[in-house]
Amino acid sequence: MSSPLRIAVLASGRGSNLQALIAARDAGTLPVEFVLVGSDKASAGALDLAQAAGIPRLALNPKAYPSRRDFDLDLFARIEATGAELLVLAGYMRILDGEALHPWVGRMINIHPSLLPKYRGLHTHRRALEAGDLEHGASVHYVTAELDGGPVIAQARIGIEAGDHEDLLAQRLLAYEHRLLPAVVRLIAASRLAYAAPDGVALDGERLSAPLELRGDELRR
Ligand code: GAR
Repeated sequence: MSSPLRIAVLASGRGSNLQALIAARDAGTLPVEFVLVGSDKASAGALDLAQAAGIPRLALNPKAYPSRRDFDLDLFARIEATGAELLVLAGYMRILDGEALHPWVGRMINIHPSLLPKYRGLHTHRRALEAGDLEHGASVHYVTAELDGGPVIAQARIGIEAGDHEDLLAQRLLAYEHRLLPAVVRLIAASRLAYAAPDGVALDGERLSAPLELRGDELRR
């Protein structure tokens, strides 16, 4: 048996996507070792979840650094020191410095609550509703210097329903995020997925022509 993939997770908030990864690991369906949970917010619920799961924690205060780059360089140096092989952004709400993140390109993924390339940035649920979209979704992508712009690995799609409002849509989508993120990490842990620079994704050595789609708990071409 190969050793579990060493992963670090960054989260700014409640950490339900982190919890989904921990639950999958605990269920024996995700062969990973959590080496660190880090946050830019000392009060993040994700840090409490990490503590409860016995995962090393790190909270750094951006205000204690002279610049975004200084903060990110310190953060990434500390993550590198853990021996993490994959860095997962799970509700990490800070923009990353392009130069500082560069060594992590191809080893860092983010979950974003929209069907990228639609709705990069904030308020994705509201924007999908205001646009009158019939469907919404979440994407997991490799992180590059372009905000929410790296190659998309996989997506989960849901229909927008008549009674949907921003919070309800966010809540309905979250349940899909909790399957999407572990499914992508599972493929990476199995060494089946790779970043194909500069803007592609390869599955089993073959470049994807479109993001994988979540069906149940599985990802399909
Ligand atoms: C999730 O919906 C995630 O997709 C989103 O933040 C939420 C975090 O929830 N991420 C972004 O908006 C990144 N731009 P969680 O803390 O419960 O996992």
